[in-house]
Amino acid sequence: MTVVQAALCFLMIQSLFKDIRVKADTVDVCASCHQNATCDDKTDGSGGKVCNCMYGFVGNGRTYCQDKDECQLGQICGDHTKCHNTYGSYYCTCLTGYSPSNHMNTFIPNDGTYCHDIDECGVQGVCGEGGLCHNTEGDFTCSCQTGYTVQDGSEPFNPNRDAAYCKVIDCGSPPSVLHAEQLSATITHYNSELQYSCREGFQRKGGQNSSVCGLDGEWHGPSLVCEAHCGPAPEVPHAEVAWDNSTAVIHRCVKGHYRHTGSDISICDITGNWQIATLHCKELKLTINDLVVINERCLRWNAENEGYREKYTVTFVGLRDFEQLFSDRRKKIFSSSALWPVLCLNLLPATNYSITITAESTRATSTVTANTSIPVPPTPEIKYSEVEASSPILKLRKSTNTLDSICMYQVFVIPVEGVMLFDCSSSVSPRFLAQQRCDGGYVTAQIQLGGLAAEINFTIGDQQLYGDFFNAPLENGKDYYVILRTVCQWRKSRTQSCVIWAKARGTSYIMKMSALVTVGSISAVGSVIVMGYWYSWYCKKSSPRFFSAPILTSYTD
Ligand SMILES: *[C@@H]1O[C@H](CO)[C@@H](O)[C@H](O)[C@H]1NC(C)=O
Ligand SMILES: *[C@@H]1O[C@H](CO)[C@@H](O)[C@H](O)[C@H]1NC(C)=O
Ligand SMILES: *[C@@H]1O[C@H](CO)[C@@H](O)[C@H](O)[C@H]1NC(C)=O
Ligand SMILES: *[C@@H]1O[C@H](CO)[C@@H](O)[C@H](O)[C@H]1NC(C)=O
Ligand SMILES: *[C@@H]1O[C@H](CO)[C@@H](O)[C@H](O)[C@H]1NC(C)=O
Ligand SMILES: *[C@@H]1O[C@H](CO)[C@@H](O)[C@H](O)[C@H]1NC(C)=O
Repeated sequence: MTVVQAALCFLMIQSLFKDIRVKADTVDVCASCHQNATCDDKTDGSGGKVCNCMYGFVGNGRTYCQDKDECQLGQICGDHTKCHNTYGSYYCTCLTGYSPSNHMNTFIPNDGTYCHDIDECGVQGVCGEGGLCHNTEGDFTCSCQTGYTVQDGSEPFNPNRDAAYCKVIDCGSPPSVLHAEQLSATITHYNSELQYSCREGFQRKGGQNSSVCGLDGEWHGPSLVCEAHCGPAPEVPHAEVAWDNSTAVIHRCVKGHYRHTGSDISICDITGNWQIATLHCKELKLTINDLVVINERCLRWNAENEGYREKYTVTFVGLRDFEQLFSDRRKKIFSSSALWPVLCLNLLPATNYSITITAESTRATSTVTANTSIPVPPTPEIKYSEVEASSPILKLRKSTNTLDSICMYQVFVIPVEGVMLFDCSSSVSPRFLAQQRCDGGYVTAQIQLGGLAAEINFTIGDQQLYGDFFNAPLENGKDYYVILRTVCQWRKSRTQSCVIWAKARGTSYIMKMSALVTVGSISAVGSVIVMGYWYSWYCKKSSPRFFSAPILTSYTD
């Protein structure tokens, strides 16, 4: 230390001691106050001073004023707050999720500021796409909207703390439907609806025609069934639709046509095309031509309709001019597909039939008339006998025959001379008559069968007239054969049967003789019988009367 320095030091210490001395004298309290204290007037009115630690400090105001930790004093900032102590002070902030009502970062409670809950949901998108925000006291949670699902976590979640997030539901590629096409654009997220419609040539049979993306991420629908649709029923020539359910059609030939060949069903195939019926309809042109009666029993005609089963109605009326009460009226239904149908009928003999055939489909009709022939008449029951008498009595018993009214008996008396031929069927008079000899044979009687008793006793040579014939007495000394011929005749038809009835033996002379009788019949239809007369008075001088015997001649046109 230099002298100067020592002098200065002395002065300083001197003045210092001088100050202390002054203060002590005046009790300068304020001078003793702590740096962070204030000197205040005493409150007791004594006019003295007192040191008080400043706000935020605690202490004796002179030797120490240390920082007061207000945050230790309890919830001084209020609810949802955080207290921050500072040297000599403190301040408040709101907890996360809360916001101060003074809109400042910090506050002190005694200015009325408080912390209220922040509505985080007020901020758009806080939960991310598809998230649904739920505000809570001081916090918020997120869930997923309909159509979204939570990923990497579970609901509820907080995007700030969790990795979870919401992801839109996507059903992926839409389902395909057989024979259908999608109409709308492909949007595959939740609730998207896709429309489908059946392709051309197909039609909807039912079910749902749309598909919807569901919450489960799956497509729902379509329950579609598309069915081949071939359009309107196909045309088949000369046919009409009898039945149609749009996949199958039954055709039938129109009126005037008939099913000749082929199937009558058209089917809609899976390609949407008709498999058209092969039905071939033919025009009905049925006529009845060339109707004839064959063998007096059967009808035959030309139907000209190949393959068509026609139904014919056959009506026939049979009349007999010789039997007024007789009538054979019948009707027959007959089906045939033949080109030349043949129908056999049980026609009665000696009847004039008129037969009409009508075809049901075309009403074509044809009539034919036919006269049935006469059957060979039955011979009566006789007993051949050889008698020796000039007027022998011969018996017969009629056989049953419905045609009696056109039949008669002819009694031939034929002398037994040489070789004799008697042709029963001949409509020509017995051959011997042609000889024009008085000793020839002759017809002695002709008796109509109609009304005749069942049993007859006939006396040869009783000199009566039978029909136009004279029953002349037998000549003595001659042998005769008596032949009974049954003849039935109607119009141009004639039948007959013969039987040798008896041999009448006259007187002695005996010759070698034989008789050949041909028993048979021929039909005389187509020939004309002309009656002539042969006057027998040449031979029968004893007879005063003319009597006639028929000369039967015939010719064929
Ligand atoms: C007084 O307070 C202030 C802060 O206000 C501080 O920096 C200082 O050190 C204090 N003085 C003493 C002597 O403690
Ligand atoms: C789907 O079906 C409904 C009723 O069944 C119908 O009205 C609609 O036209 C259909 N849509 C299509 C595209 O076929
Ligand atoms: C039409 O009828 C046919 C034959 O009976 C049958 O197979 C088919 O299923 C029917 N279609 C409809 C649409 O009813
Ligand atoms: C036969 O029948 C036809 C037709 O019915 C008729 O014209 C004719 O007169 C009849 N003939 C006889 C003999 O009955
Ligand atoms: C049937 O007899 C009648 C009358 O004799 C005649 O007109 C007609 O031509 C005869 N018919 C036949 C088919 O013979
Ligand atoms: C036929 O003659 C016999 C006797 O020979 C007699 O019994 C019978 O009654 C006669 N019949 C008739 C129809 O006269």
